[in-house]
Amino acid sequence: MDWESFFVVHKDLPREGPGAPEDVAWACALAGVAADAVICDAGSGPGGDVAALLAAAPRGRVVAVDMHFGAAADARFADETRARGVAGDFTELDALPEAPFDLIWSAGALYFLGLDEGPRVMARALTPGGVLAFSEPCRFVDAPSDRARAFFEDYPLRTPEEIAAKVAEAGYDVLGTRKVPDAGWEAYYQPMEARIAELRDGADAALTAMLDLCAQEAADWRAVRDEVGYLLIVARLR
Ligand SMILES: C[S@@+](CC[C@H](N)C(=O)[O-])C[C@H]1O[C@@H](n2cnc3c(N)ncnc32)[C@H](O)[C@@H]1O
Repeated sequence: MDWESFFVVHKDLPREGPGAPEDVAWACALAGVAADAVICDAGSGPGGDVAALLAAAPRGRVVAVDMHFGAAADARFADETRARGVAGDFTELDALPEAPFDLIWSAGALYFLGLDEGPRVMARALTPGGVLAFSEPCRFVDAPSDRARAFFEDYPLRTPEEIAAKVAEAGYDVLGTRKVPDAGWEAYYQPMEARIAELRDGADAALTAMLDLCAQEAADWRAVRDEVGYLLIVARLR
């Protein structure tokens, strides 16, 4: 991934992956998140889910962790007294002063570790009985088309049942799953497409390649959205 060009496209956009406040509200209700819960947004990107997480725990705290925050991590949530940003690796959440967490939320980020490793790594930073809620690439049909398979590149695409079984194997009770709705994807792609249109004029070769890649991704998703997408999983550590 050419992260430099990626962040030119995504700079100051509200999201870097699909999702919507309704997803957070659904997951937190299912998890029975307490009003004073200590929550981590693992791989938070710009923090598009932080406000919804704070709303779900009106006396709680949210720590947003992303390896690409850079030095200004703290300034990101300066207006939110109950939230802070940490530039760090989400494989080391257990080292944070707020750990262990009652809820770890991770939208479109845990797949960097994969389904075998991700839930096990997050378990180290959860309270006993804590909840992991994350989105995972998924296939919704038996035989996705080549275009649908290519959408998530080489990532192994599992059915919702297979994903739930893997999460259970990792030591969790699965509380529920649901498909990330189309509105969550549009909340990601529409601002990105407006940015792409702004950046076209004067873009160098590397940026043009990234603009093409991002535009193609949105077009591909709209073509394959009934076949593949993200599954949201909410699971309690046993
Ligand atoms: C596709 S973005 C999703 C961002 C955000 N959750 C959202 O929905 O807008 C994935 C994020 O995970 C972050 N990430 C990937 N691996 C990470 C790691 N090991 N530790 C911390 N952040 C990581 C990336 O920097 C990126 O911001």
